[in-house]
Amino acid sequence: MKLTGEEKALLAGERGPGAQKAMEILVALGQIFGAEAMVPVASAQIAGVSYHNIGDAGLEFLKDWNHSGARASIPAFMNPAGIDRSLWKRMGISERFALKQNEIILQLSEMGVQDTLTCTPYHIGQVPVFGQHIAWSESSAVSYANAALGARTNREGGPSALAAAIVGSTPKFGFHLEQNRKATHQVIVRCRVESPSDFSLLGYWVGKSVGDGIPYFEGLELPEVPWRRTVCLKALGAAMAASGAVALYHVHGLTPEAQAMGSDLLVPNRQRIGIASLKPAREALKQEEKKLDLISLGCPHLSLEELREIASYLKGRRLAIPLWLTTSAIIRTEAEAEGIAGIIERTGALIIADTCMVVAPLKEMGIRNIAVDSAKAACYLPSHQNAITFWGSREQCLQAAIEGQWRA
Ligand code: F3S
Repeated sequence: MKLTGEEKALLAGERGPGAQKAMEILVALGQIFGAEAMVPVASAQIAGVSYHNIGDAGLEFLKDWNHSGARASIPAFMNPAGIDRSLWKRMGISERFALKQNEIILQLSEMGVQDTLTCTPYHIGQVPVFGQHIAWSESSAVSYANAALGARTNREGGPSALAAAIVGSTPKFGFHLEQNRKATHQVIVRCRVESPSDFSLLGYWVGKSVGDGIPYFEGLELPEVPWRRTVCLKALGAAMAASGAVALYHVHGLTPEAQAMGSDLLVPNRQRIGIASLKPAREALKQEEKKLDLISLGCPHLSLEELREIASYLKGRRLAIPLWLTTSAIIRTEAEAEGIAGIIERTGALIIADTCMVVAPLKEMGIRNIAVDSAKAACYLPSHQNAITFWGSREQCLQAAIEGQWRA
């Protein structure tokens, strides 16, 4: 790789062992993927924060790196952790787990990573602009940044995103190069796709077919209202990132690169996929009726507008099944200031910040049967949490919470 003088100095350890380690990780990555140089990045989003996922080995790794003096040189922020820092006791999380989790957050904070603890940083003001290079690692956030915003990021691992935060750049390969952003699959949608749940089902089905390809959707419309548009795109991308490994997609006439280049984005030998119905996806996610331990909405984390909508749906009701609405602490504070949080909490639901149903220690909390409206969560909960998962639309989930019964 061709390195600048400063990058060579970092690699030689002239800026300390922490920065040297970061540079070593990035150079190794660049060499594996054939990068010719580094590219400066505007921000880094760091996954691998939950103690449930990284355990003691991950905590020790972070401690060592922190103690070697490594510090972020660009805006960097954390993905969700395994606890809500204010509600962990109420959630039934053990003190041992909470202590370990707080230690991880402390290590990252000392390294200069902001404790935003969210997978939707774009809901709290971290919105990369078109063409900007970034190093993000949570798969749904990566997909949203690449596709909906036209930013450039690979799907970083936690350590490589942290290394990029320290160095301020990342190896230039993959989605940082224009030629790798072309669509490999032309997806022609012939059925109605309207609600976020529809987009989630569509993403689930397409992700299964395209793997790590780049889909180009035709025949899709998005809601006029900007925040609803965001919700649909985040649901689509999150589902494709989980059922497949999609980190970038285009929607004809709607996402920024598709607006600029249209069908020129399609590679000549792309594969064609027709979607005539969402029914197969719905059937694949269907579960027999069962007693639910929890209903959880907010994968990816909810926006303030979504919380407003949920509050108006639930207003004045009393819930029969525990309901979590997961979001960032910043959005929860805004919801509290607006009075939305009060409406929601009076129903018995909890607005959970900093964590989510996939990275919290559900097993030690005795939660096994869980309903979600996110195809991403439906994909991950069985493997990450050994949970029995029910997928339904947001309305179906909220109705089940009210009635105390899941209707498939
Ligand atoms: Fe976010 Fe957790 Fe889902 S990190 S995308 S809410 S699995």
